Amino acid sequence: MKLFLKNARVIDPAQNTDDIMDIVLAEGKIIARGPDLKAPPEAELIELAGLVAAPGLVDMHVHLREPGLEYKETIASGAAAAVAGGFTSIACMPNTEPVNDNRSVTEFIRRKAAEADLAHVYPIAAITAGSEGKRLAEYWDLKEAGALALSDDGKPVMDAALMRRAMEYACSLDLPVIQHCEDKNLSACGLINEGYWSTVLGLPGIPAIAEEVIVGRDILIAEYTRTRIHIAHVSTAGSVRLIRDAKKRGVQVTAEATPHHFTLTDEALAGYDTNYKVSPPLRSRADVEAVKQGLADGTIDAIACDHAPHARTDKEVEFEYAACGISGLETSLGLSLGLVHDKTLTLAQLIARMSLQPANILKIPAGTLAEGADADITVIDPALDWTVDVQSFRSLGKNSPFHGRKMKGRAVLTIVKGTVKYDGRAPRP
Ligand code: DOR
Ligand code: ZN
Repeated sequence: MKLFLKNARVIDPAQNTDDIMDIVLAEGKIIARGPDLKAPPEAELIELAGLVAAPGLVDMHVHLREPGLEYKETIASGAAAAVAGGFTSIACMPNTEPVNDNRSVTEFIRRKAAEADLAHVYPIAAITAGSEGKRLAEYWDLKEAGALALSDDGKPVMDAALMRRAMEYACSLDLPVIQHCEDKNLSACGLINEGYWSTVLGLPGIPAIAEEVIVGRDILIAEYTRTRIHIAHVSTAGSVRLIRDAKKRGVQVTAEATPHHFTLTDEALAGYDTNYKVSPPLRSRADVEAVKQGLADGTIDAIACDHAPHARTDKEVEFEYAACGISGLETSLGLSLGLVHDKTLTLAQLIARMSLQPANILKIPAGTLAEGADADITVIDPALDWTVDVQSFRSLGKNSPFHGRKMKGRAVLTIVKGTVKYDGRAPRP
């Protein structure tokens, strides 16, 4: 099957391209790109004037819930949400039931993803057995089965000595370690950011330092062992500063931020709406500004949405008992384009943080529209006005505080390995 994409504004940060071009796709690859190409015979023509063709977007931090929690999300429903949100590659966290700490779970995820045949799904395996923080999982086995990174997301590794061993072992296998930075003693029974709003609302707080002490500790371990560390969902100004300083010293640290952490502040909790309950919590205005600054100056490498689908029964309970997380795959690009609208980033910078840079961290074959590359392409209409409606989500998780929010810009066509997996273009007259 051949596709001929005509007149797109091709933004390919890997090659510093931002030009009107045509792209020819065949056999799952990009076989030609350039201005005014001749349509190859038998190719299906797709006119893209006025639209942006970007490398397929990559979200390196999602939760797919299968095996074990299929009432929240399945691999197929999560992959469908991914392509509807413009993502051609996603990496899924291991906090399933059972935890992905052994090769049979990793293989199961890959099999289910192949059956769904939508986005590429890359399993992230656990750092420790059962993510219990006591002993390391079998990294060699996990890598061989197809895991491409390690994390105990949601359950940070609290034992510094174990974290050191994990980073050394992972480094020898070239597997990135992704840490959810939260000192459990400092966050204790906290529910929202510690500050003005936790005081006003009478909810126990999680201080910024709960995140920052682990960011600082893991940067020091990475520096000492000369290994690399990836900091998940950076939420505080202090974390941004620590990462910026470490990068200046040459420490191999990378980081990501979520759309909800750079869009919302803890003031959103004023109505006790559990859709705003996330981990790490929404922070102060100063933290939000620092995260945006970190994205602008490259301290934060990637945008990842921490897609955390939950059922109504998990969220419609007392605040204290409600699950943390936002179903994010279908609003991530729309919210992230807000950074372009408010001039924090150029469109090319945004696309780099949502494709090339996470692809480089995970070392997956994605993030470029070079000739010969896999034909994973996201077509974006940056001017399209739309309103978030959770009932139209492909994700089983309807838990989004962005329901009803007006957005500008979204993915209208998602192509994976040369095949259209999502087509949201308006029907032509
Ligand atoms: O909000 C969150 N939800 N943060 C996490 O770290 C875990 C995630 C989940 O699994 O629901
Ligand atoms: Zn997560």
